[in-house]
Amino acid sequence: MEAILLVGGQGSRLRPLTISTPKPLLPTAGVAFLAHQLARARAAGVERIVFATSYRAEMFEAAFGSHAHGVELVYVSEDEPLGTGGAIRNASRELTCGPDEPVLILNGDILSGHDVRSQVKVHEEAGAAVTLHLTTVDDPSRFGCVPTDGAGRVTAFLEKTSHPVTNQINAGCYVFRRSAIDTIAEGEVVSVERETFPSLIASGSVVMGHVEAGYWLDVGTPEAFVRGSCDLVLGRLESAAMPGDPGERLALDGSRVSPGAVVRGGTAVGRGATVEAGATVIGSVLLDDAFVAEGATVRDSVLSRGARVGPGAVLDGVILGDGAVVGPGNELRGGLRVWPGIELPPTAVRFSTDT
Ligand code: GDD
Ligand code: MG
Repeated sequence: MEAILLVGGQGSRLRPLTISTPKPLLPTAGVAFLAHQLARARAAGVERIVFATSYRAEMFEAAFGSHAHGVELVYVSEDEPLGTGGAIRNASRELTCGPDEPVLILNGDILSGHDVRSQVKVHEEAGAAVTLHLTTVDDPSRFGCVPTDGAGRVTAFLEKTSHPVTNQINAGCYVFRRSAIDTIAEGEVVSVERETFPSLIASGSVVMGHVEAGYWLDVGTPEAFVRGSCDLVLGRLESAAMPGDPGERLALDGSRVSPGAVVRGGTAVGRGATVEAGATVIGSVLLDDAFVAEGATVRDSVLSRGARVGPGAVLDGVILGDGAVVGPGNELRGGLRVWPGIELPPTAVRFSTDT
């Protein structure tokens, strides 16, 4: 089976991590995020993937080349972003399959343990134009809300509605009949969520839902990105692409974790990264050459390449950009983002709940 991978988004909710690296290439449990998706696609029977790129397009081919994880890779770039539907249509020129064959379409920021082969089976048995993987979440307003009838047929598609009619949502993995892709306007900006799905449903085409509620996460926010990396390290979602066994931490070759440090909760420690004695790092992502000094505490945070946390500093739910430096004694919490290269002098920031 062939697949199209949508990877053209700007990843703006993940800035400053995505200033230099597109979201699908961010190191996640020790490898580029997409490596996990490629390995899972291969296991589901995908042999060839067309990457639909736009933002920092050249970095994808540089990262994966023409083959990776047993899959042949082809790259198609948009001069201007064409939206999800326009990107699918544009990338489809590289497909080689026939008009009735199923094509898998994947959002490039999803970790999912669902059974793609079962989804394809639902699609083929129903003779559907499109079959969507659906899951359930607590807050459907941030996603595509997708009600189905008793036979599993999709009855509406409501993208990011403030009045969701169900907490069943679009999980960002579709099976399209090849000929259904050909109905999308060529060379135009089209949203598959706001235009293609609603118009297929309105025209009476068979659009099916494959409901499966296993492990599922969209890593598009900093909190979700950290959680996804930790879940992979902890083995909550199995990945053949993980460069090590599941456990409390993944320390890549060339990292230095002092025996006197506490590093757990699925923390990944990149090449050349250091955690000194007396430091505590829990549920975090340390990219290459990051540094956590003695006595510092880092929790639920991302330290980008070469970022440094000084002795005794505390970080909780913080993103440090490349080369950012947090001087000794600072206390940063609650979603704070430090831009690349910024240096906070000693004890410049204290977070206090005192009144
Ligand atoms: N090539 C290309 N061109 N890719 C794009 C473009 C574009 O213009 N716009 C977005 N993408 C890619 C992104 O890189 C991402 O992989 C995917 O399309 C979805 O975009 P997001 O920006 O992550 O969308 P979202 O998370 O807000 O919503 C989507 O995913 C939800 C599930 O996580 C929608 O499909 C929702 O309906 C869905 O519930
Ligand atoms: Mg997303």
